[in-house]
Amino acid sequence: MRKKLVAGNWKMHGGIEQNNSLLNKVVAGTLGADKATYAVCVPYPYLSQVSSLLKDTHISWGAQNISQHVKGAFTGEVSAIMLNDFFCHYVIVGHSERRTLYGEDSKIVSHKFKAALENSLIPILCVGESLDQREAGLTEEIVGEQLDAVIELVGVEALEHAVLAYEPIWAIGTGRTATPQQAQDIHSFIRNRVASHNTQIATKIQILYGGSVKANNATELFVMPDIDGGLIGGASLLPDEFISICMAANN
Ligand code: PGA
Repeated sequence: MRKKLVAGNWKMHGGIEQNNSLLNKVVAGTLGADKATYAVCVPYPYLSQVSSLLKDTHISWGAQNISQHVKGAFTGEVSAIMLNDFFCHYVIVGHSERRTLYGEDSKIVSHKFKAALENSLIPILCVGESLDQREAGLTEEIVGEQLDAVIELVGVEALEHAVLAYEPIWAIGTGRTATPQQAQDIHSFIRNRVASHNTQIATKIQILYGGSVKANNATELFVMPDIDGGLIGGASLLPDEFISICMAANN
């Protein structure tokens, strides 16, 4: 039985005061939830604040990106090992905003994934197609390629310490979520793809759905057999919404 995971992706949002108030509410509002786990992936400057706020709670934390390099002359970059100083549990890699706005291709993403694993971080690997690609019937080809690039570099066994997230680009921040069946179809495709290499890992791996998950659609998504929780953008900044989504995963 896979446990569900709800991870907030704050993107480039937050502030000292705001984080304090949001996290105190989320901690209090999700107490007693034992069937699911929760995390927030926050901007780098707040990792210190968030690690001290959450350290004795049931909520874990992480970052939204890392460098594929260990250290060196890479102005503006942050390495996986630096995240260890803030006791990060997770790091998102290959979010579609990184792929489309910052030119991260599947090769770069797979090296970031590897860097995360080598430093005891759990990568949350995002995969997903654009609207044009979906309409052209290319969803499985695109998602398959994004997944294969990682498996090719690190081997399928490495997925034992990773989380996958299916995030159709057309559903991110648009209010247009995939229907539970549309999401389930691709989740099942992803699980089968992993199973073609290793069935045990395929059975165990958590596959999150992301893209306009809200309190009012979380339950119908989370009951689907291959949806193991969510990666939540906008709604993770609103305490009541995020708490409701977390509770929907705790059923
Ligand atoms: P959204 O973002 O929930 O605001 O659509 C999800 C994501 O980008 O991870």
